[in-house]
Amino acid sequence: MTIPSIPTRGRTLDYAAPIYDLLEPLCLLNKQAEYELSLLQALNPQPADTILDLGCGTGVFCALVGQHLDPELGGSITGIDAAGKMIEHARNKRGTPHCRFEAMAAEQLDFADRSFDSVVSSLFYHHVPLDLKTRSLQEAFRVLKPGGKLIIADMHKPTTLLGALISHVSRWFFMQPQIGENIRGVLPELMIQAGFLPPQTLAQYFGYITLFSTTKPL
Ligand SMILES: C[S@@+](CC[C@H](N)C(=O)[O-])C[C@H]1O[C@@H](n2cnc3c(N)ncnc32)[C@H](O)[C@@H]1O
Repeated sequence: MTIPSIPTRGRTLDYAAPIYDLLEPLCLLNKQAEYELSLLQALNPQPADTILDLGCGTGVFCALVGQHLDPELGGSITGIDAAGKMIEHARNKRGTPHCRFEAMAAEQLDFADRSFDSVVSSLFYHHVPLDLKTRSLQEAFRVLKPGGKLIIADMHKPTTLLGALISHVSRWFFMQPQIGENIRGVLPELMIQAGFLPPQTLAQYFGYITLFSTTKPL
């Protein structure tokens, strides 16, 4: 079934969906498994948790998280992406009753207030302009339960020469000012402005991706 994409000013990746599972390991310098494992450890899913993944792509990380959830206890993960083709691939390859995928824009979530225990996002925020970064963080805050966890892994201030090279070359090669905002380091302040506690930096990957953890205050 064809799933329509959701209008957004974010850079959606409909065109890349058929080959995204081959491309992503390259972006992660062939260390995708290691990267996803540390994201999983940061998220620390509990069997009964309800979890939301923003900009889920083809749903590889959602499927990994899904293995740690117990549907009989109400555990579930929902991946959203504004690219209909990404959601088609995710549903076909990885959809289960407790690992669901919906076409939706992260800046306008169709979920009730306080409906998730955790929100996670990997490599999504450098795809949206500043105002949508802000709105999607406000939406993440709204749909999280008090005390809920937000885990973000994304491009941030480069920490190595290789990281700086990858960041600046991608910003100019893809003509993507949204990357420029990330590498100037806007994300932590935007999380705080959305109401989250000051984020902790848990890890850095490849000199260009930072893993942040924060929570919605009780
Ligand atoms: C680089 S991919 C990351 C996919 C996956 N999370 C990962 O780590 O591989 C960024 C995703 O964000 C999606 N996207 C862009 N703008 C969006 C928006 N406003 N709302 C939701 N998803 C969006 C794109 O379609 C794309 O699938």
